[in-house]
Amino acid sequence: MTPVIQSKLPDVGTTIFTVMSALATKHNAINLGQGFPDFPMNQELIALVNEAMKKNHNQYVPMQGYMPLRESIAQKAKFLYGSKINPDTQITITPGGTYAIYTALTTVLQPGDEVIVFEPAYDSYIPNVEINGAVPVLINLDFPDYKIDWNKVRQKITPKTRMIMLNSPNNPTGSVLTEHDIAELRSIVTNTKILIQSDEVYEHLVFDNIPHQSILRYPDLMERAFVSFSFGKVYNCTGWKLGYSISSPELMTEFRKVHQFNCFSCHSPSQVALATFLQNKESYLSLAPFMQNKRDYFADMLKQTRFTPLPSYGSYFQCFKYDRISDESDKDFSMRITKEYGVACIPVSAFYKAGTDNKVIRFCFCKKEETLQEAANRLVKL
Ligand SMILES: Cc1ncc(COP(=O)(O)O)c(C=O)c1O
Repeated sequence: MTPVIQSKLPDVGTTIFTVMSALATKHNAINLGQGFPDFPMNQELIALVNEAMKKNHNQYVPMQGYMPLRESIAQKAKFLYGSKINPDTQITITPGGTYAIYTALTTVLQPGDEVIVFEPAYDSYIPNVEINGAVPVLINLDFPDYKIDWNKVRQKITPKTRMIMLNSPNNPTGSVLTEHDIAELRSIVTNTKILIQSDEVYEHLVFDNIPHQSILRYPDLMERAFVSFSFGKVYNCTGWKLGYSISSPELMTEFRKVHQFNCFSCHSPSQVALATFLQNKESYLSLAPFMQNKRDYFADMLKQTRFTPLPSYGSYFQCFKYDRISDESDKDFSMRITKEYGVACIPVSAFYKAGTDNKVIRFCFCKKEETLQEAANRLVKL
């Protein structure tokens, strides 16, 4: 008989992403639910990985990551954000952005610490806080523009507050941080013990010429921050699960203690390939206009429907209100349109612990034009 264990995450069940993707497969629906591109990634990068394998880059690289890749990342951070990052002491390559976040939280959180999490939130954040025995302190982004109300943040700060988790551009809402947000953040954390975890996996997916407010721009905030990134999102290869974290030398020393006994070192040939490919600035600068076109293409076609768009300034996603179509719950509505109209989406209530339902769904637009066109053709019938 299997011995009984006490669940560390008793509230966690099957996620809505799994449910919706399974439903999409069952009903042969177009999957605009989960965030992944349905078009091929860059062939040159594939060739570089092949070349690295053939040249025998198939053994462990150092625990911190392949040094030439860390050097390329540091150069890129200087070029984009003017930041001075030491590749030796401040960057660690990780198996994806999600792992980088988990490791940062596991590095710093003690039982009973409080962590401010804005909702709607990427689904790993709250479980990552809880599994470390810490307490998520939840604050809703203001609906419908999904901005942070910093006065609400001030009210929730206590002597136990250890961290604020940020995500810009935001999944699921496509909202982005502004300079005003950074000033507010600074005024709250300066001279406190509060750390920052900034999830910037969509750094190259900020639209309409808005500058990305990376925490890397701000040396005073970097002293207390972990900033996480994902190559999967930059190079349209989400299945690669390769990313990195940047922090202060002091925090990164501790991060590496956790990392070295978990993953230790990540896929070598991909790191060798990326060290070269990252030097091609066009490879990442071209991403925002490319994906902005997709956002506009899809939003334009959805004008023929009764969906009401909410603005998306970045990410793979745009949210839509459907209150002119139905008063069902967002979960029921999402399931019904998947089954009856053959288009899968994600109900935004799934990104709130309390299931807050503003009658909003999220569509993923990082798809081929023909996929978006076919989805729109089906949604027009609603
Ligand atoms: C906000 C956010 N953070 C992190 C990730 C995951 O990145 P990775 O696949 O590199 O772990 C995602 C993927 O959907 C995301 O939307």
